[in-house]
Amino acid sequence: MTEVIDGDAVAERIRDDLRDGIETLADEGVEVGLATVLMSDDPASETYVSMKQRDCEEVGIEGIHVEIDPEAPAEELHDTIADLNDDPDVHGILVQMPVPDHVDEREVLRAIDPEKDVDGFHPENVGRLVAGHARYRPCTPHGVLKLLESAGVETEGADVTIVGRSNIVGKPLANLLMQKADDGNATVTVCHSRTEDLAAKTRQADVVVAACGVPELVDGSMLSPGTTVIDVGVNRVDADNEKGYELVGDVDYESAKEKASAITPVPGGVGPMTRAMLLYNAVKAAGRRED
Ligand code: GUN
Repeated sequence: MTEVIDGDAVAERIRDDLRDGIETLADEGVEVGLATVLMSDDPASETYVSMKQRDCEEVGIEGIHVEIDPEAPAEELHDTIADLNDDPDVHGILVQMPVPDHVDEREVLRAIDPEKDVDGFHPENVGRLVAGHARYRPCTPHGVLKLLESAGVETEGADVTIVGRSNIVGKPLANLLMQKADDGNATVTVCHSRTEDLAAKTRQADVVVAACGVPELVDGSMLSPGTTVIDVGVNRVDADNEKGYELVGDVDYESAKEKASAITPVPGGVGPMTRAMLLYNAVKAAGRRED
């Protein structure tokens, strides 16, 4: 029987644990504050940010939300970030990506105070992660590690193939998994759009993580029996329903499920975990606690 890894349930447990930490901080007079900044009218980005704000409310984090007209000059975003950096009630800052084309993403990431960079995308925090002493583990990779742990999947000595090399998922996840500490000690293969014979790389893996943004790229024929499959993808594809679209992952769920020993669904797998680990990083920022 294939285990369907329930990201909603694992995320709920993480939120429950966080509530204790949030209460303890409140007793010490610290109300955890997380700011989200949206400079986009992309409906998916709007949905993600509103879900993050709802999560804050649910666990007792003070959510601060700033919306900036996507047509506004980059300066407006930088002024907002500077204000949030200076605000002692704001412990974590997340600028929803992507930002509009006229805004330099790298400058935005550099502008956020690294201590408040709960995404872990500031170059200083990327460097710390690669060097093996992350200040904040980026939310999606951290969520993937927690899902593997919850499913009892041992990464030590395992072959893990990651399909996708993004700064948000593929690269930080590869770094975390290969490290000696805690969750690591895996042998990691990172594949991308120029990889030759992708199926050979996924078939050799004990764990496949699909994070490439290509709908249903990884199917059952590309997996060996018993593989653990983590699907990070969320793709809107046209569908003959009321909404006119449906969400599918980077994995062809039905055929992959035939081969996998454990698999995450879309939705309800990695997505809720990303949001839970954002709350985790916000609490960490407020408590300045080391992992
Ligand atoms: N856009 C897609 N994923 C993310 C994320 O993890 N953080 C931010 N800030 N933007 C995103």
